[in-house]
Amino acid sequence: MSKLFTTVDVGRYVLPNRLVMAPMTRSRAEFDGTPGALAAEYYAQRAEIGLIVTEGTQPSDDGQGYLTTPGIYTDAQIAGWRKIVSAVHDKGGHIFIQLMHAGRMSHPDNTPHHRQGVAPSAIAPGAPMFTAKGMQDIPTPRALTTEEVRQTVRDFRHAARCAIEAGADGVEIHGANAYLIQQFFAPSANIRLDEYGGSIENRARFAVEVAAAIAEEIGADRTAIRLSPGTAMWGIDEGPEGSDLYRYLVTQLDKLDLAYLHIMHQGNEALLADIRKLWEHPLILNRPSRPREEIGSDVASGLADLEAYGQAVLANPDFIARLKAGAPFNAADRGTFFGGNAQGYTDYPTIATAGA
Ligand SMILES: Cc1cc2nc3c(=O)[nH]c(=O)nc-3n(C[C@H](O)[C@H](O)[C@H](O)COP(=O)(O)O)c2cc1C
Repeated sequence: MSKLFTTVDVGRYVLPNRLVMAPMTRSRAEFDGTPGALAAEYYAQRAEIGLIVTEGTQPSDDGQGYLTTPGIYTDAQIAGWRKIVSAVHDKGGHIFIQLMHAGRMSHPDNTPHHRQGVAPSAIAPGAPMFTAKGMQDIPTPRALTTEEVRQTVRDFRHAARCAIEAGADGVEIHGANAYLIQQFFAPSANIRLDEYGGSIENRARFAVEVAAAIAEEIGADRTAIRLSPGTAMWGIDEGPEGSDLYRYLVTQLDKLDLAYLHIMHQGNEALLADIRKLWEHPLILNRPSRPREEIGSDVASGLADLEAYGQAVLANPDFIARLKAGAPFNAADRGTFFGGNAQGYTDYPTIATAGA
């Protein structure tokens, strides 16, 4: 485990340890997408971790999917994020804002403009979603025109600029978990006939264009991307060419010299090993539900440069101190993951407060 506590170069930064807070939506923002009042405290409590990746944050009105998630494209949102970033920096931490466009995983009741969701093609995910009126089926989205796809690339670019204006250290593009970028990868969600659909090159094009545009806007050394090869939920099926798509995509992204690639691992070990070889920059690996005794093993084996943890960091503001001390972890309370107040957000005890 000791290698976890060595420094590591990531983009233009030297991080103090190789542990990362995985991005986690908490649905506690204002309805206009301004981060909630407790967000600065929540993230600052966790600033000892090498890198914080924030909750998914929409780059535009269209990019919002869930209720009360934050955005990063208006002046009010930038001002809200500035408070969070300053609080994390005051404690010596590093923070990348995750740019998440939900695509078809969106309900009109949750967005500021209440419009139909947008996607590569007009195919519903076949899933329900939480709204202020309770669970509702997600309606069929509207297919983006070719010009609208290009506009969406520009929206990502603008959001990245806003993140830097808020003082963030960088942005992580959310290319995982069945949201817009992964919808382009999957033939089950993308039946386009233009240059963004069909061949592997075409289905990967949107992701590569977003990454290239952001890298040009804010510097490749502040630009990162998260992928989850093989996601099989919410109607996403990457088909028999899925692994080849990722080999091609990672090869293209590698040429951009991004700060890091973050893999949310879905279990294909052979593909993961290939990605490790194709990607010549820092690799962050998130293995869902990793048992505590295995923390550090991917860094130790050389498969990853950093390891990301979600729920364990959510529930343990002093995750690093507990790891170092061999102290037990608090369990995460699923009932307070999304929405609500300080409960299950900023009130998890540290070793110090638990013993007090
Ligand atoms: C409450 C919650 C919200 C999440 N929101 C996001 C998100 O906004 N973006 C994202 O890429 N992953 C999101 N995830 C996935 C996590 O980043 C992580 O991949 C997952 O929790 C598995 O890691 P873990 O077992 O260490 O928690 C979320 C997970 C949880 C538990």
